Amino acid sequence: MYHQRKAILSLIFTLQYFRIIRTLQLTEIVVPDVVDVRDTPTLSCSYDMGTHTLNSVKWYKDESEFFRYSPMLEPNVRTFPVDGVSVVRDSPEHYCNRFMCSIQLQRLNIKSSGTYRCEVSGDAPEFKLAHGVYNMTVAVLPQYDPIINGLQHNYALGDFVVANCSSDMSSPPARLYWFINDRIVPSDYLQPQQETTIESDGFILRYRTLELRFHIDEARLGKIKGKLMLKCLARIDAFPQGTRETTQVVYIPMTDELRNQKLINWRNGAQSLHHRSHPHSKQHLKYVALLILSLLAIISLSL
Ligand SMILES: *[C@@H]1O[C@H](CO)[C@@H](O)[C@H](O)[C@H]1NC(C)=O
Ligand SMILES: *[C@@H]1O[C@H](CO)[C@@H](O)[C@H](O)[C@H]1NC(C)=O
Repeated sequence: MYHQRKAILSLIFTLQYFRIIRTLQLTEIVVPDVVDVRDTPTLSCSYDMGTHTLNSVKWYKDESEFFRYSPMLEPNVRTFPVDGVSVVRDSPEHYCNRFMCSIQLQRLNIKSSGTYRCEVSGDAPEFKLAHGVYNMTVAVLPQYDPIINGLQHNYALGDFVVANCSSDMSSPPARLYWFINDRIVPSDYLQPQQETTIESDGFILRYRTLELRFHIDEARLGKIKGKLMLKCLARIDAFPQGTRETTQVVYIPMTDELRNQKLINWRNGAQSLHHRSHPHSKQHLKYVALLILSLLAIISLSL
């Protein structure tokens, strides 16, 4: 059984091996999905000529040819004007030969987004063709981490916290998320998101602000060990590698410290703040109870 399977596998490998040396085929095409408008991306195409000789490699954007490498002609590289496409000449990234052809683009703009195609052709008489297609989107990615505003350094248990997080402008826009101690906050902690739109060089740039509001409450946040880590994360769905975040720590005195503090405050302010402090009304109740008990005792004695 084992030997049989092995024989079948090696037969498949042999067939594949002959197929590869016979046909011209594209082995890899690299076109970034999303690039920043300030980038100079490299596009590359690798091929296996099989038994053919390379005639030309052509790069197209949206069906318009902008670059041609023809090793048998002089000059062997030609470029053609296409909107939004500018190939860097004399770039170390620019390198074409029998196995691969890589080019570098510069001065991107909104028109550089589109479908890029690499087409490889063999020599006469067959002029065999192989091609690969990829879409590239030019974005304006955020250059800065999100900014957190409005937080104080210290809070006490029960305090109300309000803070804003604002993303850098980008296209497509970033989604904002708040985390407390690395746990995403419940939606009732959030205000509706604000958005501002700016148009620049054909790009619709947006920045967003998300306001966080919550009570420092151990019942909801869990045991607070002296501090809370508040993190704001800005994520672009189409470009998760470009996720940016900012964390700010706020300090909250330990529960015991706070209790002691309250006790001290109560003792010091006992005389002047009678009506405010809860323990006093309890004491009043005690006096009233004692009074009633004494009255009852007197009544039962006199009977
Ligand atoms: C590329 O974009 C075009 C037009 O937006 C779309 O029709 C096509 O399916 C995309 N191709 C790939 C490979 O994503
Ligand atoms: C947060 O931003 C909104 C508007 O974007 C503003 O009305 C609010 O006062 C800000 N809050 C803080 C705490 O900065």
